[in-house]
Amino acid sequence: MRTMTCIEDLRQSARRKVPRMFFDYAESGSYAQETLRANRADLERIKLRQRILLDVAGRSTQTTLLGDKVALPLALAPIGLCGMQHGDGEILACRAAQQAGIPFCLSTMSIGSIEDVEQAVGKPFWFQLYVMKDRGFVRALIERAKAAKCSALVLTVDLQVLGQRHSDIRNGLTVPPEVRIKNIIDIATKPAWALGILRGRRRTFGNLAGHVRGMDNVNSLSQWIAGQFDPALSWKDVEWIAGLWGGKLILKGILDVEDARIAAKTGAAALVVSNHGGRQLDGAPSSIAALAPIVEAVGSAIEVLFDGGVRSGQDILRALALGARACLSGRAYIYGLGAGGQAGVARAIEIMKNELDVSMALTGVTRIADINRSVIAAM
Ligand code: GLV
Repeated sequence: MRTMTCIEDLRQSARRKVPRMFFDYAESGSYAQETLRANRADLERIKLRQRILLDVAGRSTQTTLLGDKVALPLALAPIGLCGMQHGDGEILACRAAQQAGIPFCLSTMSIGSIEDVEQAVGKPFWFQLYVMKDRGFVRALIERAKAAKCSALVLTVDLQVLGQRHSDIRNGLTVPPEVRIKNIIDIATKPAWALGILRGRRRTFGNLAGHVRGMDNVNSLSQWIAGQFDPALSWKDVEWIAGLWGGKLILKGILDVEDARIAAKTGAAALVVSNHGGRQLDGAPSSIAALAPIVEAVGSAIEVLFDGGVRSGQDILRALALGARACLSGRAYIYGLGAGGQAGVARAIEIMKNELDVSMALTGVTRIADINRSVIAAM
């Protein structure tokens, strides 16, 4: 892993090792991918301000997130099908995050279940919730997350219907992969991946199998989601969920100031400014463009987190400069996972931490609390 110098190296390696259908699933945005590209392009447009001779010895990337100490302002975002990037992917990524001192968020649509991860790791993790039409099942999921002592519930609020990702249709994405000639040839060239999956505990959606009908073999993820996820979800349900959960609640998927104002009044501990990694409303603004107005409107009432295109420590610095408390990153660690399992995720986190540390030094700041707009160059 030492020769992996940046997230892009991990991405190239993952592309060679992970079957196309799963690599593309994580990689893609929706429709024409305009928003996916805007997330990166708008981050890159923000130029950092080089400062010199300011005594930047004794730096630290440590901070707090939802009141807990973290080694850097970063959490691993919830990623569906994480355990299809690498056998036992959720457990390995959670272990890497915990060893690095940052939170890991398990997805409802994960392969490893809440209980699998709980039994395999030492400390609490976050759980991400999708709301299905079957409210009894939603209640049960919340109870399971509580029983596993999850330290925060991340309610995704931007996926009541699924934005179409063309590659999932073209690749015929199924879980587990269907025995088709195209897949057999692809998997035959990725023997280490196949072995990892065979050795892993599960090959289907661990949180849902046995609880929801038709989960043992999902031959169209998008159709399944269309049938099960609740398009009628509303702010009233947020209240219901907050009441059932009773712990720290994070609302993920807010891009609009008006929505942020409502979110700030729900009693949630944090919101995540996010367009779901460019995977939902194509044509929506980049996440970074939405960040500053939301911080201005609600930043004193609720912790504002950020995701959408974070691939480096420089990106974390940019988001913090515009007022984010911390970032979430999904694809960056998924590349690490595909490239090298737990060590790959650990490397992804280490790369971004080192980049953040050096970029702090070169912009003249030594503490996370001192990062503000002054690290951005006037343009
Ligand atoms: C689910 O969260 C997805 O983006 O596919």
